[in-house]
Amino acid sequence: MIWTVVLLLQALLLYFIFTQRSRSKSEPPLDKGLIPWLGHALEFGKDASKFLNRMKLKHGNIFTVRAAGRYVTVLLDPHSYDSVINDADSLDFTCYAQVLMKRIFSLELSHSQMTEAKDMMKKHFIGMNLATLNCTMERNLKALLKAEMPPNQKDWKKEGLFDFSYRLLFKAGKFDGLLTKMARETLRPEEKKTAQSVRQRLWDLLAPAGSTEDSGSSLWLPAYRRLLRGKGADEDTQRKAVLMQLWATQGNVGPAAFWLMGYLLTNPEALTAVKREFKQISQMETSETQSLGDRSAATPVFDSALEETLRLTAAPFITRQVIREKTLHMADGQEYLLRKGDRVCLFPFNSPQMDPDIYHEPQKYKYNRFMNEDGSAKKDFFKGGKQLKYYTMPWGAGTNGCVGKQFAINSIRQFVYTVLTNYELELCDPDAQMPEVNASRYGFGMLQPDGDLLVQYKLRNKH
Ligand code: HEM
Repeated sequence: MIWTVVLLLQALLLYFIFTQRSRSKSEPPLDKGLIPWLGHALEFGKDASKFLNRMKLKHGNIFTVRAAGRYVTVLLDPHSYDSVINDADSLDFTCYAQVLMKRIFSLELSHSQMTEAKDMMKKHFIGMNLATLNCTMERNLKALLKAEMPPNQKDWKKEGLFDFSYRLLFKAGKFDGLLTKMARETLRPEEKKTAQSVRQRLWDLLAPAGSTEDSGSSLWLPAYRRLLRGKGADEDTQRKAVLMQLWATQGNVGPAAFWLMGYLLTNPEALTAVKREFKQISQMETSETQSLGDRSAATPVFDSALEETLRLTAAPFITRQVIREKTLHMADGQEYLLRKGDRVCLFPFNSPQMDPDIYHEPQKYKYNRFMNEDGSAKKDFFKGGKQLKYYTMPWGAGTNGCVGKQFAINSIRQFVYTVLTNYELELCDPDAQMPEVNASRYGFGMLQPDGDLLVQYKLRNKH
């Protein structure tokens, strides 16, 4: 027995000696944290924004931290982001995406299956086909809202704004709640059981999705399934892939719509300005059903209000796997070596989006921050006296930038427009404030609130 313990201790000691890593002079500052192997994982997962701000104060704009056995180099200088975003040869997007797909959706797709699926997605979500998708979305939204509030119902209906927005645009309930834990592999045993059973239920529900080409659905899902079938994916893999796509395409839009509606309702001046703009559009509509119709209709006030919302609440990590040793050139002339096998991560939420050097009172919602006085979009923002190429990055950028950006913007705009023109919607408590963000979700796209904002709504009397 004593020998087993001694041998185990020796093995542990050897493991730590051989996995010890020290910094070479050409590499970014290294911070391993105090706990062996785990490093900074707990603090990182609890509130990544706060943790990365602390590391930035300690080390500057670039540093490497250890988290759960992994080494992650974090770059926080927006002037230098291009050196990561534009180097798909040394810094790979797909490897880490595959890790997350396996952990969350129990799905394994090859590199080539993913590349072809993305090319196909571009055809459906960008350009000509986008108009068809927008029409489908508009029709579905209207039907849902109608079911929500039949014309003969006259009383106020009360609900949490997050539930209202997310439910109407998409809700996968418990599954989404456990998503961050699945990604980090930190589910407790009972949560694991819930995640598995919810996932199974969603796979079953989604079994028919895209398997027929009925006129009610978009052409994209059947085409996606055909592509996977053609590449040898069985029925089970196809279902898993459809769930993954459902989340990728819908999971961020509902929370974004919630934050925007919330900021408008808690900032009367912003709400009035957006309503005024929408009213002008609705007066030009000839159809009595009121729709945004001509999608090219300019909505500069809405656009700025949305951009400001995303600045405050879009917080993705832009993560890449270093597949080939790389020298990273910073905008200030410094150079750092990135080791093969490490990950590199940008966190635009901390900078540029919440950076006080770039934005005056960055915590405040100012609906017209991204608008010039003449109504044109404001795009000139500076840091250190130098104009920024990336002054906000809710959609990522470069080769792996968001394919669904335009579709997402259109959906959110349609949602807000439909609600504001057809309903009276107000806060139950006129003095209510926006809820805090759920700090454990930093890094996973759109943030979600910790709590909700209670609203009441009823059909607008149009006569
Ligand atoms: C508010 C809504 C959305 C936000 C904030 C958002 C954000 C992002 C971000 C930040 C990335 C880049 C990730 C990286 O570089 O590591 C991304 C990628 C992507 N997004 Fe979105 N997205 C949204 C909605 C959508 C929708 C509706 C679609 C549907 C088509 C979509 C499809 C994609 C795809 C396919 C990629 C991966 C691109 C690649 O493989 O290179 N997104 N999104």
